[in-house]
Amino acid sequence: MTKRVLLIIGGGIAAYKSLFLIRVLARRGIKSTVILTKGGSEFVTALSAGGLSGEKVYTDLFDLTAEAEMGHIELSRSADLVVVAPATADLMAKAAHGIANDLATTTLSATDKRTLYVPAMNVRMWENAATQRNVKTLTDDGAFMLGPDEGEMACGEFGEGRMAEPEAIAETIEKILKGDTTLDGLKGPKPLAGKKALITAGPTREAIDPVRYLSNHSSGKQGYAIAAALTRLGAEVTLVSGPTAIDPPACAAFVPVESARDMEAACHNALPADIFIAVAAVADWRPDGSADKKIKKGKSGIPALKLVENPDILAGIATAKNRPELVIGFAAETNDVVAHAKAKLTKKGCDWIVANDVSGDVMGGDHNAMIVVTAKGEDAFPRLKKEDAARRLAEKIAEHFA
Ligand code: C5P
Repeated sequence: MTKRVLLIIGGGIAAYKSLFLIRVLARRGIKSTVILTKGGSEFVTALSAGGLSGEKVYTDLFDLTAEAEMGHIELSRSADLVVVAPATADLMAKAAHGIANDLATTTLSATDKRTLYVPAMNVRMWENAATQRNVKTLTDDGAFMLGPDEGEMACGEFGEGRMAEPEAIAETIEKILKGDTTLDGLKGPKPLAGKKALITAGPTREAIDPVRYLSNHSSGKQGYAIAAALTRLGAEVTLVSGPTAIDPPACAAFVPVESARDMEAACHNALPADIFIAVAAVADWRPDGSADKKIKKGKSGIPALKLVENPDILAGIATAKNRPELVIGFAAETNDVVAHAKAKLTKKGCDWIVANDVSGDVMGGDHNAMIVVTAKGEDAFPRLKKEDAARRLAEKIAEHFA
């Protein structure tokens, strides 16, 4: 059966490439219905888009004739895939927030089909925090993203921002239409559906008095990325996190805590679970009793801090009556990484230890080189972005349960 895409052409200089895209798709036997936004029509005309697609081009929500023939609801549903190319920062921002105030955005919010965004914009606009947040929201909600490519741009700057080439877009569209979901992982297979995962992340804060505390440099990034990766594979994730500066990922439950003892209680509260992963950098010690008023400087000299040991949350869960089937600990080491990890495996009673060398920029940084140590041996991942390392680990967990 002939496949059809609904192609929304946004307002960017790359709109001319979308005209080529219509032809490239036609050569592959894929028909295009075109919506030209107001911005898009500043760059290409409805006449050229219609000439190439051989069909009427839709331009405005309030085009009554079009409404009579084919309303925006129908338009959004009669295609197999919605493609936004060029996807401008403005279109993605509106779509991410559910704003529907013209034909293109109404169609995007009314569609029951997957959407592929092909961004094109100035590199600074692409790197802008708001744009990146919107891209994340859209992909978390199930959209595909292609590009942008790196290269020279119409504005004279160089960087990520060029729209992908029509051939590459057509290839991706064909893959999606054939049901290839490896492109996103979100609507792909859910091997961990029905499994509950409990994850700790971030640092803990151990109060000295109401304004002072002991803590460490953990950012929470790795634990949050693992929570997101397991969620994408279908697991029901509870993330218990110490204080961090980053946004919680999309997961079933997010439980913010402060101290190690809070974290321990929150974890036991969240059991039973099938998987437990202790990623948090739990403070090993806490002050022996915290002052209920701010300790004053001066009179009694420098206060001596007497420390007591915190509970070992990982060891506690690994030996709990309702122990999860798979218990994974982390070992942040600066030397003899694997040897220490092996020792920890038995000492803590867990099934896997993810060892990482934190002598470099792992703690607080964006990359990690994990070595997964199990009773069977070691599996060393290369140095990867924390998100990619998390995906690899989540896949390994899925294999374990397969
Ligand atoms: O003993 P060590 O701190 O090196 O062990 C690290 C592992 O144990 C990590 O998985 C960490 O989350 C966990 N841990 C814990 N509770 C503690 C200390 C560490 O769960 N009090």
